[in-house]
Amino acid sequence: MASYVAAVDQGTTSTRTMIFDHSGQVVASDQREHEQILPKAGWVEHDAEEIWANTRATAAGALAAADLTTADIAAVGITNQRETTLVWDRKTGKPVYNAIVWQDTRTDRIVNELGAAGGGQERYRDTTGLPLATYFSGPKVKWILDNVEGARQRAEAGDLLFGNMDTWLLWNMTGGVDGGIHVTDPTNASRTLLMDLDTLSWDTDIAADMGIPLSMLPTIRSSSEEYGTVRERGALGGVPIAGILGDQQAATFGQACLSPGEAKNTYGTGNFVLLNTGTDKVMSQNGLLTTVCYKIGSNDTVFALEGAIAVTGSLVQWLRDNLNMISSAAEIEEHARTVEDNGGAYFVPAFSGLFAPYWRSDARGVIAGLTRYVNKGHLARAVLEATAFQTREVIDAMNADSGVPLKTLKVDGGMVVNDLLMQFQADILGVSVIRPKVSETTALGSAYAAGLAVGFWESEDDIRTNWAEDKRWEPSMDEARREREYRNWKKAVTKTFDWVE
Ligand code: G3P
Repeated sequence: MASYVAAVDQGTTSTRTMIFDHSGQVVASDQREHEQILPKAGWVEHDAEEIWANTRATAAGALAAADLTTADIAAVGITNQRETTLVWDRKTGKPVYNAIVWQDTRTDRIVNELGAAGGGQERYRDTTGLPLATYFSGPKVKWILDNVEGARQRAEAGDLLFGNMDTWLLWNMTGGVDGGIHVTDPTNASRTLLMDLDTLSWDTDIAADMGIPLSMLPTIRSSSEEYGTVRERGALGGVPIAGILGDQQAATFGQACLSPGEAKNTYGTGNFVLLNTGTDKVMSQNGLLTTVCYKIGSNDTVFALEGAIAVTGSLVQWLRDNLNMISSAAEIEEHARTVEDNGGAYFVPAFSGLFAPYWRSDARGVIAGLTRYVNKGHLARAVLEATAFQTREVIDAMNADSGVPLKTLKVDGGMVVNDLLMQFQADILGVSVIRPKVSETTALGSAYAAGLAVGFWESEDDIRTNWAEDKRWEPSMDEARREREYRNWKKAVTKTFDWVE
């Protein structure tokens, strides 16, 4: 009897395979980073074949680390960086172009033209829950078909397939050119700007507006069901693949935010706050996204309101890799602790424009409030505080949309080990911030989706039972200071606008 479930977590900077036991504890993990390809300002690409090779390597690595065989694994779930767009040839299995990453802003002109043809940024909001923005997959597919020689003809002839990273990995895992299954789930599909949120099917009119042949698009199945088995003879061969969730929805599931009104914030490359709104599709009036939270088998679709922030953890990486100001991400907290406050400096990292709640692709990053007094410690603090201020902006929008102020925020992701940031987050929000014992909630969420489909876990109650609190931060900043800091931040944000014409 298989006693474990595996999850493949294909993220923006790395790919991991994790193995969980029935209580949701991590048994083993293996991780590989992949190259960030930055050909021009605003462009971000990944080599999809490198990612597929890393997936196989980490699957083997995780099994070996736990001294397990495929017979011990009941099912595998896939979770992935969302929106990142790949087009490949169904006969050769070769990508026609690198994957265009969600952070990439090259579709700026395409997006503006689509909006100018009628409806502006809100043109597809009613159908898809999303504003027109460079973030989403549809315009990226259009860019590939418009710019890669011969791609449009090949697509129209039915030779090319589109997928986000979930679809690419599933297709390869289930055989690739030899019968690979071409499917996705509604959480990923809801990030393409091509899916109708009411019917969970592709919107033929929008696909036509973007010149995307329907034959390229994967079949949309639920987030938790058996799609097929791993065909490869190597690691995980023969194991059913039974869960797909976009990484932020997976984290929401893994955090047991299973009732309306429950929310989580993941501190990764970017930050993503998701509020479960139950079976109600809440349309945002305040710059948030309406998205599918999960669809478990034939159960009703559960929706979420999402505040997507493009740059948080990746700002720390930028300080390390582009400026060499620190040698490891952990050092940022040490520098920040050398000072009492930000010394008046505010860092707005609008590297991919600004996502929620602004949706401004013309924005670019600024450091505001500099004086000669400001030192490295102040800047380190400003870098950490940027994450907390951006989170406050999307939580304010959420409170306005839902009419019910959030009382607590569950957090996860790489930056939640940073005590200074978590305390500042609680201070600037004025609510309790709670970290769970298992902070690998993204992988765990997709393991739950897969495990539920094969009966490894019986119901969502098992997920609630497994969730346990590790640490809690309570707000301690006085109201006047909190609001003054936040006002200054807002002023700094206005300095990022109108940089790109
Ligand atoms: O929407 C983008 C998001 O899914 C990326 O998540 O954790 O890979 O930065 P992450």
